[in-house]
Amino acid sequence: MRVLFVCLGNICRSPTAEGVFRRELESAGLAHRVEVDSCGIGDWHVGNPPDPRSAEAARRRGIDLSEVRARQLSAEDFHRFDYLLAMDHDNLAALRQQCPEACQAHIGLFLDFAGQVDRPVPDPYYGGERGFEEVLDLIESASRGLVEDITRRLEGARH
Ligand code: 4NP
Repeated sequence: MRVLFVCLGNICRSPTAEGVFRRELESAGLAHRVEVDSCGIGDWHVGNPPDPRSAEAARRRGIDLSEVRARQLSAEDFHRFDYLLAMDHDNLAALRQQCPEACQAHIGLFLDFAGQVDRPVPDPYYGGERGFEEVLDLIESASRGLVEDITRRLEGARH
């Protein structure tokens, strides 16, 4: 199973989702069965590490983002990943627009897995410190829901 988190710059929300979701997979004993990555719709930050405010907020919750480097969404991603999960409605619209017709992947908003239908993870880039904590709270909740969803799918595939 392969999961790709998608935001605008790939330096705040989607790297955070990658780090938090990896930790949830490890807690659930599923790290070896699920591949995780993140990317951005835009190319402004390609090759850069996460925003220091995101890295610091994640570090305070025991999550290390220092290895993540930003990359841009590519056409192959639609074939490679089973889930392409957008942080907000703009990211989702871009995914739907670029998605090839034959693509079988689940494309949706990440917070659907937190039971928060049609809600975005707000872009924290131009806001204050509190925005980064809210991003983490929302992402932690959705990550737990996504682990449950993937667990069901993996069990379903076994029967
Ligand atoms: P992200 O946040 O999409 O969560 O990585 C942003 C990062 C950079 C910009 C916008 C959003 N930017 O305009 O450069």
